[in-house]
Formats: sequence, structure tokens, C-alpha cells
Amino acid sequence: MSPAATGRAGVVVLSTLPGDAVERLRAEHDVRYRDEDSSVPPGELPMLLAGADAVVVTLSQRVDETFLDAVGPQLKVVANVAVGYDNVDVAACRERGVVVTNTPGVLTDATADIAFALVLMATRRLGEAEREVRTGRPWTWGIFHLIGVSVQGRTIGIIGSGAIGLATARRARAFGMDVLLSGRSAPDPGVVAELGARVVDLDTLLAESDVVSVHAPLGPQTRHLVDADALARMKPTAYLVNTARGPVVDEAALVAALEAGTIAGAGLDVYEDEPHVHPGLLTRDDVVLLPHVGSATIDTRTAMADLAADNVLAVLAGRDPLTPVRG
Ligand code: DGY
Repeated sequence: MSPAATGRAGVVVLSTLPGDAVERLRAEHDVRYRDEDSSVPPGELPMLLAGADAVVVTLSQRVDETFLDAVGPQLKVVANVAVGYDNVDVAACRERGVVVTNTPGVLTDATADIAFALVLMATRRLGEAEREVRTGRPWTWGIFHLIGVSVQGRTIGIIGSGAIGLATARRARAFGMDVLLSGRSAPDPGVVAELGARVVDLDTLLAESDVVSVHAPLGPQTRHLVDADALARMKPTAYLVNTARGPVVDEAALVAALEAGTIAGAGLDVYEDEPHVHPGLLTRDDVVLLPHVGSATIDTRTAMADLAADNVLAVLAGRDPLTPVRG
């Protein structure tokens, strides 16, 4: 799979991509395409990867030293079809001169939609309500039947005020919520003003929010950022929503907090050890559980695949990647 003779490089695409991303890669390079929408069995990796100049991966694929060894020293770029890149050992790639790219921007709205859907599902008990109808449990209209809380006039706290956090805040604002923001980098003052938001420290956000929505990327500083202590700072009437990465929340502590009534409920799209979900969450009616579908619209996934392909094409042509990971 060496580009030397033909000018065509070897590209490995490890799982099914929508749209014409693979065709566009094939027009310029030799593509080994594993057209399956599932994680690669580890035993199959070495054969698939050997000799590639570029590899397109999804977030369920760990890119570590073993992976990089299996590809070989000619590797130039790893294109992650996700905005989060905690599955990639970026330092190991950098040491080997391998460019890492991700897909920021194109999934912002889809993920914020799911974050706010979880806010509504949790506060209005919609998972529970749907199960009631579907399982044929007898019901009639009643004043207190599946009674929830309104979001209007309540406060949402956004942990991590990057693009997805701010897009979620915009949705919350449109639903009449007050917005608190906290995060590593200060949001643009114009955006803060547009949202009528207050930028606060994490403790204030936890103490004052009726809904806490997690949008921080996963890294050493954010692993278990929402731990038992953080949960204890939340109001007993508050809800936790997580559409970022599971390990940002200590799942065992969350189960304990729900059991103790420390918080009122949760809406989760991501888990500490996906696809495993803590059994203590599965049986609770006060949590809404989705299977990591934040970016799962055909439009968004096609845009993610396109951006990953564009990054590969750029690097293989000796140009700068469009969206390099600098972390
Ligand atoms: C991402 O891109 O990081 C999402 O979690 C997957 O869509």
C-alpha cells in the first residue's frame, strides 16, 4: 500500500460511512473499506491496518501504541469520525509524526438537540410515560398522573461552554430557561450577552441549577468531574444530563445519588464503559437512557464522514488538515 510508485496512497476505512466519502477517497487513493457498522474485532485489526498511509476510525476504535504498531511507520493521518478524540492517544501519534483530525462543528446542532431532548424527557418523565403506554399499563388522565416539572423560568447550568454547550444553552433560552455557564475557557462575551447568561464557577453552577448539562470533553482533568461531591452540591430537585462522554460523570456515584434522592433524575446519552450501562441505572424510572445517539442524524453523520475524508485527502496531498486535533 505504498504511494511511492503510483501517487495513490493506501487508505483504510474501518467502518461503514454514509454518503460518498468513500467514493471520493477511492477516486484518489487505494481504499481498503470495511463496510460494516460495528467495532472491528481486535483479531482482524492487524491484517486490515498493515501498510496504510491513512486510517479513518470511529470513536469505538482505540488508537494506541498497539494500533499504531499494526499500521506501520508510513502512517500519516488518523481521521476520527467524531468531535471527541479521547479514543486516540494523540501524544503517541504526535511522537510518530501522525496527524490526528476530528469533526468539530458539523455535529453541534444534532448533539445539542439530543441534550435538550434529554432535558425535556427527564423533567417531563417521557421515557416512563412512553413505557406506560407501550407496556399496556392501565392509565387515565389524572391531575398527578406522570406529573413532571416545567423548564420555563428554571435554570440550566452548562458545564463546558464550547460549541455544543452553547448550542444547548440557546435551545434552553428559547424554552425560557436562565443560563449559567462554566468551563475551562471563557466563552465569547457577545455570546454570553446574547444568552443573558452568567459565567460562574462550577460550585455555583451546581448549587443554583435546576438542570446541569455536561458538555466538557473527556481528559485527565474532567474524568469524574461530576463525582459524589459534585452531585451532593446539586439541588435535590435538579436533573443531570450528559451527552459528552460517560467518564466525565462517576456513574456509581450517580446511582448512589439517585438512590439517596440527592438529585431528582438524569438523562444520559453516554456511559462510563459503553456499551455497558450500570445496572443500577437500568431499573430506575427517574433516568432516561439513550444509546449514544447525539450525532445520529443522516445529515450529520454524512457531514462527519465528509469532513473526515476531506482531512485525509488534504494530508495525503501535503496540505494542512481542515480540522486537526491540537490537544
Ligand atoms: C462525538 O462526535 O464525539 C460524538 O460523541 C459521537 O457523535
